[in-house]
Amino acid sequence: MAPDWKGRHMVTHGSESYYVIGEGLLAESLGGRDGSQNGAGPPAAARAAAVTASSPPFRFSRMGPNGSGRQLGEGARKKLGAAMARAGGGNSQIPAGFTYLGQFIDHDLTFDKTTVMLGTNITPAQMLQGRSPGVDLDSLYGAGPLDPESAKFYAADGLHLKMGKTVGPAKNGFDLPRGAGNTAAKKRKAIIPDPRNDENLAVAQTHLAMIRFHNRVVDTQLGGVPPAQKFEKAREIVTKHYQWMIHTDYLPRIAKAVVVNNVFNNGRKVFEVGATPTDVPTMPIEFSIAGFRLGHAMVRAAYNWNKIFDNGSGALEYLFIFSALGGDLGGDTKLAGTWIADFRRLYDFSEANKPNLTVPPNKFNRAMRIDTRIVDPLQHLPPQTVGLPNNAGFNDVRRNLAFRNLTRARMVKLATGQQMVTFMKNHGVNVTKLTKAQIRDGNNGADLGHLTQAQREAVLKNTPLWFYVLREAELNGGKLSGVGARIVAETFHRAMEGSTHSIVRDTSFKPSLGPNNHTFRMVDLLLFAFEGKKTLLAPLG
Ligand code: HEM
Repeated sequence: MAPDWKGRHMVTHGSESYYVIGEGLLAESLGGRDGSQNGAGPPAAARAAAVTASSPPFRFSRMGPNGSGRQLGEGARKKLGAAMARAGGGNSQIPAGFTYLGQFIDHDLTFDKTTVMLGTNITPAQMLQGRSPGVDLDSLYGAGPLDPESAKFYAADGLHLKMGKTVGPAKNGFDLPRGAGNTAAKKRKAIIPDPRNDENLAVAQTHLAMIRFHNRVVDTQLGGVPPAQKFEKAREIVTKHYQWMIHTDYLPRIAKAVVVNNVFNNGRKVFEVGATPTDVPTMPIEFSIAGFRLGHAMVRAAYNWNKIFDNGSGALEYLFIFSALGGDLGGDTKLAGTWIADFRRLYDFSEANKPNLTVPPNKFNRAMRIDTRIVDPLQHLPPQTVGLPNNAGFNDVRRNLAFRNLTRARMVKLATGQQMVTFMKNHGVNVTKLTKAQIRDGNNGADLGHLTQAQREAVLKNTPLWFYVLREAELNGGKLSGVGARIVAETFHRAMEGSTHSIVRDTSFKPSLGPNNHTFRMVDLLLFAFEGKKTLLAPLG
C-alpha cells in the first residue's frame, strides 16, 4: 500500500522549527527542506536566523529541564524508530473517530491565526495571541466573518459557515467547501482557515461535522439575540461545548481520568503555574514533541469506512487520496459521494442510548491501542509531506514518523522520561518512575531486541520522552498515565484557560445541548450537528 503514496501532495501538521521562549529558535533540518543534513542547503543556524527575521514564530516553551547530553545518537534513533514501526499493537477500546478528533484538536491548538489575517494590519497583541495555543476553534472560524480574509469561509448571511457538495452521488453538505478557479488544483482546494484539516478524509469529515455543529447552533440557539451579536454568541456556545467535550470525553479516553480530574479540579502543578488566566499561553515542547504525539499510535492502517468501502477496504492510503492535501480527491475536483463518512462506524452512539444508530461490532472501527507501536504505513510517509524529494527511497528513514519524532526531540534537547519524572516529583506530583525492566519489556509493545546492547542501555537510561509516555500508556491499560497524562492534562488546562471563551475561567458554564446539564460528549455533538438523523450521519446507509 505505502508505495502508492508516492507522488501525492500532503502537508505535514508539525513544525519544522521551534521558537522556544527564552531560548530562541531551535531549528535543524531533518533531511527535508533546507537540505543541510545532506550538505545541500544552508546550515541550520543560518536558516534559524532567516526564519526569525522573516516572522515572529509560534510560541513554544520548555516545561521541564533541558535534556542536553542525554539525547540518543542517530544509530539508536534509527533502530528504535524501526522497532516502533513494526505494526500497531492491536485494537483499543477507543472508537476510531477520536484519533482524528485528536488531529483536529492538535490543529486547533497549533493554528497560526495570523495566516488568515494577512490582508489586514495585525497589531503586536493580535500577533502574540494569534501565534499562541488556544482551544478556540480559530481553525474553524479564522478571524471571523467581518475580517476581509476570512469572509470567504462564511455564507452570504455572515453567520453560517459554508459547506460543500459531493459528486456521484451529488449531496449537498457532505464535503468541505471547495474553491473555484481555472485549474483543478484551485477548484479542489478546501475553503477552510486551516488547510491541514484537509490532510486526510477522516480529519476533513471531522471538520465538516464542526461546521455543521456551528450552523445548527446558529439555526436553533440564537432566538432573541440582537443581530450584531449573533455570530459571537454562536461562537461562544460552540466553543464552550467543544471544550466541555474535550475535558469530559476526549481527555479521559486517552489519559487516566484521575489525572485529568485532578488538574481540572485542583489546578496545575508543573506548567505556567500561577499565570494570570487571561495572559497568552505558550505551548510546551514536551507536549508537542512527545505527549500529544500519542495520536500517531492510534492511527489504523485500514478502516471499515462506510457501506461501500467496508471490511478494511477503507485503507489509510485512500483517506489521504480522497483529500486535497494528502492526495488529489482521486483526480476529481470534489469529493466522491461514495466516500462520505459513516459516523456510526467511528463513534459509538449506544453511549447516548441510540441503538438505532449503531452498527454490528464487526463493522465498528476502534483506534489502535496507545502504545509504543505505530502502523507500518507511517514508516513510509509520502516524501513531499516531510519536505523530501519525490525520489526519496521507500525505506529512507526520514520517511519514518517514529524516527522523525525521536529526532525532533534531539533537535530541541527535550527532557528524557526520567528527567520529567524527577521534575514532576519536585513539583509535588505523585508519579512513579518506570523501572528499567518495564522500559525494556513493556507490554506487547516495541521490542528492543534489535538494538545493540549499548543502544539499548542508552534508551533505558535516558529514555526519549515520546517513547517513555507511550510505554507508560502501554503498561497502564492503553491510556496515558504518569508524566504523559500530566503533560497533556496541564497543557490543555492552560490552553483552555487562556482562550477567549473559556470553561476554565467561566466556571458557571453548563452544557445545554446534551442530554442534561453536565453531559456533552462527542456523540452528543454529532447528534446535535447531524440532527440525530441516520440519513445525515450515515447517508450511504
Ligand atoms: C494519519 C495521521 C497522521 C499523520 C500522517 C501524521 C503525521 C505527522 C507528521 C509528518 C508530523 C511532523 C513530524 C516531524 O516532526 O517531522 C506530525 C506532527 C505532529 N503530530 Fe501527527 N500525524 C497524524 C495524526 C496525528 C494525531 C491523531 C495526533 C494527535 C492526536 C497527532 C499529533 C501530532 C503533533 C502534536 C505533532 C507536532 C505538531 C507541531 O510540532 O506543531 N498527529 N504528524
